[in-house]
Amino acid sequence: MSLPPGFLDELRNRLSLGQVVGRKVMWDTRKSNQGKGDLWAPCPFHQEKTASFHVDDQKGYYYCFGCHAKGDAISFVRETENVDFMEAVKILASEAGMTVPERDPQAQQKADQRAVLTDVMEQAVKWHRLQLQTGAASEARDYLERRGLSAEAQTRWEIGFAPAKGGVLASLTGKGVKQDDVIAAGLAAESDRGGAPYDRFRGRIMFPIRDARGRAIGFGGRAMDPNHPAKYYNSPETALFDKGRSLFNHGPAREAAGKGKPLIVAEGYMDVIALAEAGFTATVAPLGTAITEDQLRLLWRIAPEPIIALDGDTAGLRAAMRLIDIALPLLEAGKSLRFALMPEGQDPDDLLKTQGAGAMQKLLDQAIPMVALLWRRETEGKVFDSPERKAALDKALRDKIKLIADPSIRTHYGQAIKDMRWALFSNAKPGPRKGPQRAWNGRQEAWKRDVSPVATSKNSALGTGAAAEDHLREGVILATMIAAPAVAAEFETALEQLECRDPLHQELQNLILRHLGADDLRAVILGELGETPLEKLMSQSHVAISPAIRRPGDAEIARLCLTEEFAKLMARRGHAREIEDAVEDLTGVVDEGLTWRLAQASAALDKAGRGDNEDRAEYVIGENGARMKKDEQNAFDQLLDQIGFAKGTERPKS
Ligand code: UTP
Ligand code: MN
Repeated sequence: MSLPPGFLDELRNRLSLGQVVGRKVMWDTRKSNQGKGDLWAPCPFHQEKTASFHVDDQKGYYYCFGCHAKGDAISFVRETENVDFMEAVKILASEAGMTVPERDPQAQQKADQRAVLTDVMEQAVKWHRLQLQTGAASEARDYLERRGLSAEAQTRWEIGFAPAKGGVLASLTGKGVKQDDVIAAGLAAESDRGGAPYDRFRGRIMFPIRDARGRAIGFGGRAMDPNHPAKYYNSPETALFDKGRSLFNHGPAREAAGKGKPLIVAEGYMDVIALAEAGFTATVAPLGTAITEDQLRLLWRIAPEPIIALDGDTAGLRAAMRLIDIALPLLEAGKSLRFALMPEGQDPDDLLKTQGAGAMQKLLDQAIPMVALLWRRETEGKVFDSPERKAALDKALRDKIKLIADPSIRTHYGQAIKDMRWALFSNAKPGPRKGPQRAWNGRQEAWKRDVSPVATSKNSALGTGAAAEDHLREGVILATMIAAPAVAAEFETALEQLECRDPLHQELQNLILRHLGADDLRAVILGELGETPLEKLMSQSHVAISPAIRRPGDAEIARLCLTEEFAKLMARRGHAREIEDAVEDLTGVVDEGLTWRLAQASAALDKAGRGDNEDRAEYVIGENGARMKKDEQNAFDQLLDQIGFAKGTERPKS
């Protein structure tokens, strides 16, 4: 629907964004400068007590410094009222005393035609409903009963029946509806051979499809015979029915999502009905086609992170992969997807029937992010036992990541993939390979948090210098080893080489080395040193927030944490030693070579301490294969030699 040029500008000009927003928030009067139209409030889009939501009343724009929500009056109404663009415009126009103009005559004609068709469709819904009660529909009623659809559910979903003979065309034309309109509504079709028009749906259960505003726009008709070649037959595209831009159950799902229900996308009509009946009321499905870009945008308008509930079969997975390709270029902050994988051979409807809503909820809770599914597609069932295969994996993932338009998201994907790569390859042990699947399972949980302790230690470490950063890392390493003794044993050599400067750390290091292999290092240390040293260690801020400490028992995280901390520490110590060496050299002859070495070392040190988050992706999966910064690479290689990657085992190149 198009508006005359200038209409929206006029609307924005007439409105005060402050007034529009003011109905939803409490201004922070101290922070705001009302006179200047400079307004601050706690953000209506995320939970907070402070006022980080800013409205520039003059410019008509808002921005939240907390969650980065931004936009104008129209987007504000859209988001807070959960309505679409035109609805928001209408709401605001009536407030501003403007009338949304009539469309041009041609558009008007189209609108009139649509109004006619909407009426035809509404009559068809009623008529099919009635048919379900007739004698001809006894098989249909049995079918619905077998599928567990109660009478109430049938009413709620307005399920009907299209008889094999004497269908909707004859009936509606009999009531004065024009034949052409029945055809235009997609209910009847013209015969190819020039014969009389015929009913499109015959002998089928009818599921009405309504648009977001509740207007009937199409039908899905299901055959009852399981051997029928076309299980579903859907309305064709009509002036009302644009399959790629419609969603089954759109309106009710939008409303439910607005009330906090998670938005679920299922594959089939019956899945939507079963899910909604089981309480998952914010569920939609595409209409017999793969999910389109437009549908994705619709979904994101409803919720930032829809959960795609996939049928547990290869077709379901294939559909998900197609969806990933569509979604990657469209990703933005706060717009993402999750995937809930149904058990093999089941769809949500089956799952609910066999295992109930609890099982479904559990699968939704375990829904994995898109990046994890991407990873899974590239690694599942494959073995990466040669440089060529690893390079192929890197290339495949790199190609996908390249599709992401948003630079920040691209960076995060690079990081996440790098994490998974590490987990996959550092998991490999000499002897029989455990295969990628195991690594994947172990990693599933790790997605939900930042597994890099470096990211958390960044600020304070920068503030207090290298020695302090080393101290933090040592603490995290020791605490992680105590918390995960089984994993600690894998890092024996690295621990031996660790040069702890803190006497407490040294003492713990020695104890751990001596008792490596013990089931309960904690008990050993308590026995030898009493409570105080452990308390001291655990109360160090970076230890306390380390993912490995917060998730005791998760060997995968512990392993990842130790690998990364050791690598970083060794990288830094490498530089430190170089500078020390250089300073020693200084007592001899000062030459150009020395000055150069000093400059190099300090530049590298500087780099190692800065921007771990920002510049990671670029070396994670760079143009010529995966690469790390060289200094880290060396340290990492050394480390890999020590843990698990015995001779003869292919080891990761990054
Ligand atoms: P499903 O076969 O998963 O449908 O196809 P369903 O809803 O679970 O059906 P039941 O449970 O067997 O009754 C998913 C969707 O694909 C479209 C329909 O939109 C269906 O809901 N489809 C499927 C068709 O359009 N035509 C078909 O022949 C089959
Ligand atoms: Mn099904």
